[in-house]
Amino acid sequence: MQANERLTIAIQKKGRLGDGSLTLLQQCGLKLYPAKSSLFYSAENLPIDILLVRDDDIPTLLADKICDLGIVGENVLQEQASQYPLQFESIIKLGFGKCRLAIAGPNKFDYINLDSLNGKSIASSYPNLLKKFLSQNNIDASIVNISGSVEIAPQLKMADLICDLVSTGRTLSENNLKELFVLLQSQAVLVKTECALSTGKSETLAVLLRRIEGVLQAQESKYILFHAPKEALANIQRLLPGTEAPTIVPLSCNDKVAVHVVSREGVFWGTLENLRNAGASSILVLPIEKMML
Ligand code: PRP
Ligand code: ZN
Repeated sequence: MQANERLTIAIQKKGRLGDGSLTLLQQCGLKLYPAKSSLFYSAENLPIDILLVRDDDIPTLLADKICDLGIVGENVLQEQASQYPLQFESIIKLGFGKCRLAIAGPNKFDYINLDSLNGKSIASSYPNLLKKFLSQNNIDASIVNISGSVEIAPQLKMADLICDLVSTGRTLSENNLKELFVLLQSQAVLVKTECALSTGKSETLAVLLRRIEGVLQAQESKYILFHAPKEALANIQRLLPGTEAPTIVPLSCNDKVAVHVVSREGVFWGTLENLRNAGASSILVLPIEKMML
């Protein structure tokens, strides 16, 4: 395979998405080795290279065709998308790096509804998304564009309010701020531009995508095993969320059967208690590492 047929993926070097991105690629079976520098990994077993960068640089790297794909937060993508003449395609949501872009203000700020934002100044490193939100809601507020440590802007009297990412909410509470309104929910997504990939790269992307889907599906799925009296089976099957036909194995010692089933949804304690009440015993719930449907 030619060197230029290697699919290049930009991921965040460190921060909200860094670890999750690398873990996901490794769960997809990529054996990654540092090449050239610690900013560049090469997969040994698939034609894929990984570039470790600042998340805010990922849309530019894709638009400039330096990388083919990126793993980036929807927040970054939507903030920057309008700056480029081409379209970005979000290929798949990856389920990690979840956060929200929200307007927040001092705990003592008297917030009633969006009208309360009129006449205020709002500090943000998301000026494009904030501007769009303000104009869509006819709010007359000014934007103070700052690139980092947005949460200290009200204390420094740089702005009345802020518009920033919130995940656990810790940063807000540490700075005596409260969340007022959520503009956008965000998570990590795999993205490319609208430009077509070469045949070789498209084939590699198809393999990667199948594996990502398998990893995501496995994360949500559980393998459930239990014993049950034959006559209770019909009842029990109604209690199992997101399952297909179970495997039923007779037990040698009594008239019970062993049931094996894959649940595609979370299995909660309540479900197990209901199963037990319906006659199931020796219930085991096991994680699934890989899945291909
Ligand atoms: C965001 C945001 C806050 C923090 C909020 O920064 O600017 O500082 O996360 O998270 P919390 O609610 O869990 O406290 P991030 O780490 O994403 O850095 P970046 O925006 O500079 O990439
Ligand atoms: Zn960033």
